[in-house]
Amino acid sequence: MPLVTSGELMKDAMKREYAVGAFNAINMETAQAIVAAAHAEKSPLILQVTETTLKYTEPEPLVACIHELIKESTIPVALHLDHGRSFEIVMRFLRMGFSSVMMDGSLQEDGKTPRTTEENLEVTRQAVEAAHALGVSAEGEIGRLGQVSDEQSEEILTDPEEAAQFVEATGVDLLAVAIGTTHGLYKGTPKIYTDRVAEIRERTDMPLVMHGGTGVPDEDVVEGVKNGIRKINIDTQMRVACHEALWKIMNEIEGEYKQADAAGEPRKYDIRRLLAPARDAIQEVVAEKMRLFGCAGKA
Ligand code: 13P
Repeated sequence: MPLVTSGELMKDAMKREYAVGAFNAINMETAQAIVAAAHAEKSPLILQVTETTLKYTEPEPLVACIHELIKESTIPVALHLDHGRSFEIVMRFLRMGFSSVMMDGSLQEDGKTPRTTEENLEVTRQAVEAAHALGVSAEGEIGRLGQVSDEQSEEILTDPEEAAQFVEATGVDLLAVAIGTTHGLYKGTPKIYTDRVAEIRERTDMPLVMHGGTGVPDEDVVEGVKNGIRKINIDTQMRVACHEALWKIMNEIEGEYKQADAAGEPRKYDIRRLLAPARDAIQEVVAEKMRLFGCAGKA
C-alpha cells in the first residue's frame, strides 16, 4: 500500500473516535519493531522521524530503509516528520517523500527559546503551504509543551481561542496542544488537562495531538481520546523497553563470558543477540499502546 497522509488517517480517527499512535524510528530495528507491531495489531500507523535524529545519523539512508520496509505494507502508514524546527528542515523531509510533516514553530531552531505567537504563525503558514502544494499533511503546535508544575502556571497550556486563530491563519491539518504533557519521563504523576482538550476541540474541530505520551496515566489517555485527541506520540517508552532488554541480555552475556574466560575459551560476540530482544521489546510497547489508543484493529 502506498503511503497515506496523516490527514487521511485522521478522517477515520475522527469518525470512529480513536487516536492513531505515532512512534519514533531512529534506525532499522526501531522502524522494523514499529511496523511489525502495526501489522500484528492491524492498526493504522504514523511512523515518525524527529529532527533531532540528525544528531545521530543522516536521515536519507534511514528513510530509504523505511520506504523499503513499508512498501509492501497491508496497513495504511503515514511517514511523518516530528518537530521540524525550521522551514529548511521541513523542505528536506518533503524531498525524502514524507507524507506528513510537523512544523514546530513554538520554539526557535535551538529547540529551547520560545518563538512569539506571530513568529510561530508565520513559519508554520509557510511550511503548511509547501506541504500542501505536494499533497502532504501538516501538523503545527500552539502553546508550549511542559509540565504545568514546572512553571507553577497554567499559562503554558494551549488557549482555545488562540488555537482557533492559529488553525485559521496557518491551515494546519493537525494541531499539537499543550495540556500538561511533556517529553520524557515525569517527576511523579503528571496532571493532564483533559477538559482543555474538549474546549480546544469545541473551538477548532481539529484532530488534536498529544505529545509526550510516555507516562501519561491510561485513564488520562482514554479521557483525552474521548475529548478529541486523535494522534498520540510515543518515544521514551520505547527507549525504556529497549534499555531494559539490553541490560537483561548484557547481564546474561556477562555470565557466559565469565564462564568462557574461566574455561580459557574465546568469547563469542554477536551484535544480533543484543538487538533482536531490544527490537522485540519495542514491538511489545508499540502494540500495547495501539490497543490503549483504540487504533488496534482499525486498519
Ligand atoms: P515521549 O518521549 O514522552 O513519549 O514523547 C514523544 C513525543 O512527543 C515525540 O514528539
